[in-house]
Amino acid sequence: MSLVRYSRSGAVATITIDNPPVNALSPGVPEGISEGLQKAIADPEVVAVVLIGGGRTFIAGADIQEFRKIHQGQAGSLKPLLRLLTDLEESPKPVVAAIHGTALGGGLEVAMACHYRVAVASAQLGQPEVKLGLIPGGEGTQRLPRLVGVAKALEMCVFGEPIGAKEALQAGILDEIVEGELLDAAVAYAQRVAHLPPPKTSARTDKLGDPEANAAAIATVREAAQKRMRGQTAPLAAIEAIEAATKLPFREGCQREQELFAACLASDQSKALVHVFFAERTVGKIPGLGRDVQPLALHRAAVVGAGTMGSGIAMVYANAGIPVLLKDSTESALTRGMNSIRTNYANSVKKGRFSQQDADKRLALITPTLSYDGFEQADVIVEAVFENMALKKQVFAEIDAVAKPDAVLASNTSTLNIDEIASATQRPESVIGHHFFSPAHVMRLLEIVRGRATSDRIIVTSLELAKRLRKVGVVVGNCRGFVGNRMFAPYCREAIFLVEEGNPPEQVDQALYEFGMAMGPLAVQDLAGLDVGWRIRKEFKHTEIPGIRYPELDSLLCEQGFFGQKTGAGFYRYDENRKPSPHPRVMELAREYAAKAGIPQTPATPQEILERCLYALINEGAALLAEGIALRSVDIDIIYIHGYGFPAWRGGPMKYADLLGLDRVYQKVCEFYGRFGYHWRPAPLLEQLAKEGSSFSAYDQSKAKGQ
Ligand code: NAI
Repeated sequence: MSLVRYSRSGAVATITIDNPPVNALSPGVPEGISEGLQKAIADPEVVAVVLIGGGRTFIAGADIQEFRKIHQGQAGSLKPLLRLLTDLEESPKPVVAAIHGTALGGGLEVAMACHYRVAVASAQLGQPEVKLGLIPGGEGTQRLPRLVGVAKALEMCVFGEPIGAKEALQAGILDEIVEGELLDAAVAYAQRVAHLPPPKTSARTDKLGDPEANAAAIATVREAAQKRMRGQTAPLAAIEAIEAATKLPFREGCQREQELFAACLASDQSKALVHVFFAERTVGKIPGLGRDVQPLALHRAAVVGAGTMGSGIAMVYANAGIPVLLKDSTESALTRGMNSIRTNYANSVKKGRFSQQDADKRLALITPTLSYDGFEQADVIVEAVFENMALKKQVFAEIDAVAKPDAVLASNTSTLNIDEIASATQRPESVIGHHFFSPAHVMRLLEIVRGRATSDRIIVTSLELAKRLRKVGVVVGNCRGFVGNRMFAPYCREAIFLVEEGNPPEQVDQALYEFGMAMGPLAVQDLAGLDVGWRIRKEFKHTEIPGIRYPELDSLLCEQGFFGQKTGAGFYRYDENRKPSPHPRVMELAREYAAKAGIPQTPATPQEILERCLYALINEGAALLAEGIALRSVDIDIIYIHGYGFPAWRGGPMKYADLLGLDRVYQKVCEFYGRFGYHWRPAPLLEQLAKEGSSFSAYDQSKAKGQ
């Protein structure tokens, strides 16, 4: 089937792009449009041309698969697109882009090379390339400022957020917003302009501003980009390209854009972000789960435990419009939970995230209760009581007695065995882990833990539910800590070891913050509460091997009442605004303990801090992959990006390892094994892949083929 159709009605030719689902600019599409255009130019009866998308959208952008091919060393080229842009703009007959759905990236660039643009009111337009570590590479950084001015072009190309048709009309991208049938309106528009000389965007300079105003706009956006997109290179490259538009003639500016685009395309950041784009689409596909498995309908929810997590989870449901019962065992705990929900909603209204009316609606969906009345109507029940096995089993036995036969019975446990929890019910096939992350209404990850008996239907339903709750659901296997927390333990272990070896917390955290983590590991533990880990450590004390070093400083801090932010002190001291500063007692305690335990004081470079924390994470990830607890390395990457603040532009821990080269990671792990022993035993899968010169991505692919 042809990707582009050509037709004519009267004196106006119509070129329709037919590349479902989103009319991406796949190979053949630019060529097809060029061909249609030549036909129209050659036809003496045609006076104007309309370019429109078939199906639900105009052109949603480049074919991202093409970027991936280029990253993998396969050929791919922008040349046909660049040729099309020139053909369009040089056409002696006016070309009108008729836009519905989205005109993003290359789609907007094609539209800007046309002489006129009309759109329906619901259309979205933007240059989101930065989200893939790129800049517009189809002359967008040169045409957009000519249409909308430098400040607006900077905003659109640097932050990548699309704008609506109304804003695009005001800004100068669109010439008209049309009502009724888009094609008819565009043809009528084309007839109106048919005899005017076609205006070229590239020839315009009226909106390019003056040097002083441009310098100010550039400085402002650069500062904002360095904050909001810390560590990323593409936003800065976009600024440079737009700056070139203000200083160079159009063609020279385009050349500069090409150089910058090529550098971005070759960067690890772009490889990482393209990887994440596909990873997000892969995690929802579970090998072996047939498409014939239908999810259960979900209309009502119930949550047991109105603490930090339970109240957050209730908000997640209410935010998705699902009525939810929130049960606790005491009036005071319930009141505390509801108060924190109210405060949260009030803050959102204050910050302008949603209206008071919206907040009231959400709040009205949450019904506090001390009994199980109404639980028989719930389609999903989430348990979020204290992290204690006996208590969880008791609660599950109670839920089992009241829940309807096909309800999803979920536990929010962060470490405990789902199978053992399920054993407290008569229906282990209905039991699953729904591991939300704190704060539940903010963090996007939902780790979906399947137990031995969990049915496919409950898994599929959980994945559907994640989507409805606007979370990224990742299915994992059952083990202590599942994927996220099991990997987090060695990561934090190394951070604490480093402090015990005389490196102040702020130095350890700084190295990881500069790497791009949202927060350093010690600051994160202070936020979560050091007492949580302390309690878990006591619970699992019997599993510790005599003679092996385990992190001790966090327990010593807890013994002093230093539980983290909640007590005003942990690895840091916190003022009333929760602003951290170094706490002298922390290093004192570390030194005393190190002297007693015979731990040498060895200052570490930022590089060593990174390697110890991150390679510990990667080594554990490799073990989880081999055990099948993580299905694929992409699942781990998505878990770390959406649950643990790992920078997406590094691709997640496993992609980061791939980009470094597994051999390099393996060599270092071996070196640490030699220096520190036990904890650093290289994961056999890491060793194998490193020795084969392979990668985690290749491992994923070979597993997918084997299925
Ligand atoms: P929390 O201590 O804030 O809340 C627990 C709540 O459960 C309290 O309100 C308590 O009154 C209530 N509760 C106890 N027994 C009950 C019963 N029999 N019936 C009804 N309610 C009862 O604890 P948090 O932090 O919310 O943790 C809850 C669960 O979520 C734990 O399993 C924890 O491991 C897990 N989790 C915690 C995360 C965190 O960052 N705090 C993150 C992810 C999971």
